[in-house]
Amino acid sequence: MKTIIKSIDKNNIDIKDIDEAASILREGGLVAFPTETVYGLGAKALDHKAVGKIFSAKGRPSDNPLIVHVSDVDMVKGLVKEIPRLALKLMEEFWPGPLTLIMEKSSSVPEIITAGLNTVAVRMPAHPIALKVIERSGVPVAAPSANISGRPSPTEAVHVIEDLMEKVEMIIDGGSSQIGLESTVLDVTVSPPMILRPGGVTLEQLKEFVGEVDIDKAILANYQDDVKPKSPGMKYTHYSPKADVIIIEGNIKACVEKIRELAEDYVKKGVAVGILATEQTKERYTIGIVKSLGDRERPDTIASNLFKGLRCLDNEGVGVILAEAVEYGGVGLAVMNRMKKAAGYNIVKV
Ligand code: TXA
Ligand code: MG
Repeated sequence: MKTIIKSIDKNNIDIKDIDEAASILREGGLVAFPTETVYGLGAKALDHKAVGKIFSAKGRPSDNPLIVHVSDVDMVKGLVKEIPRLALKLMEEFWPGPLTLIMEKSSSVPEIITAGLNTVAVRMPAHPIALKVIERSGVPVAAPSANISGRPSPTEAVHVIEDLMEKVEMIIDGGSSQIGLESTVLDVTVSPPMILRPGGVTLEQLKEFVGEVDIDKAILANYQDDVKPKSPGMKYTHYSPKADVIIIEGNIKACVEKIRELAEDYVKKGVAVGILATEQTKERYTIGIVKSLGDRERPDTIASNLFKGLRCLDNEGVGVILAEAVEYGGVGLAVMNRMKKAAGYNIVKV
């Protein structure tokens, strides 16, 4: 299949380009588009056949349900049995934005979207291109991250091109995704609501707004097998580059020492080393390919560079990636969740 690559300036959108994407979606094709979290791979959500193409293009397991994207709250009405009051308040506060709400599904949502569950995940992205594409197509759009299943999620169009070229009808290049990791998945069918996947909206923000918020124990667990996650997608090894990833966690000085020591050992064995460091520590490493993810005091900067950093080091051909752990506060919780999955829970504590 020939893939059309279309550059669109998010600050100066040409509606003709958007309409081309919208008509591909309406006709049952696939369009990858930028959102504020990561790039999404969109298909018409209520069309079983169109959604099936997402699973084939990504190589996604069929038991992993998709998020349905809307451009306004009205669109949610056809997707769910009812919008719980709390959900409506959360939409008013956090939409458009990186918060996905799990609600009871209506009968019009095909099983392929929900992987047979009786709930559906819905989100309204805070990105002018994503919103316009959904609005002009006039239908809810199912969109997982636009990567081959298991690979780090794409935060730039080049990442989508790497993974999905010739597998989709169109890829929209709309620049870098600002947040850099996925939306928070919040189950509002239970009380208190429960975070099934940490993401762009933080636990602290939700607690401040809602009061009590639970968090799926599997998110905080260190080993995959300990607890079964409630969100199907969270059970897969994920976000993985080709290289082995090892996280080094603990006091920052001790972390740096350990990484220096490990890097030296690997290089002696002839293994090329990549290091995911931070602004505060990057100068401390003298061997290996060093990438700073951002400022330790600002987890949002680290979030926006994590997936890109993993892909970058992969492209450099390193055999092992040594990554500094960061604090769990704010979006740091989501950063550490993704990092642990990328590492297959291979963590060295110092
Ligand atoms: O930021 C995002 O959410 C991005 C952008 C493109 O919007 N999308 C995204 O989709 O991350 P995906 O498919 O990569 O992740 C969806 C997650 C998976 O972990 C899936 O298991 C979970 O949401 N999910 C979807 N429907 C669910 C449901 N009914 N119950 C529980 N978890 C669900
Ligand atoms: Mg994904």
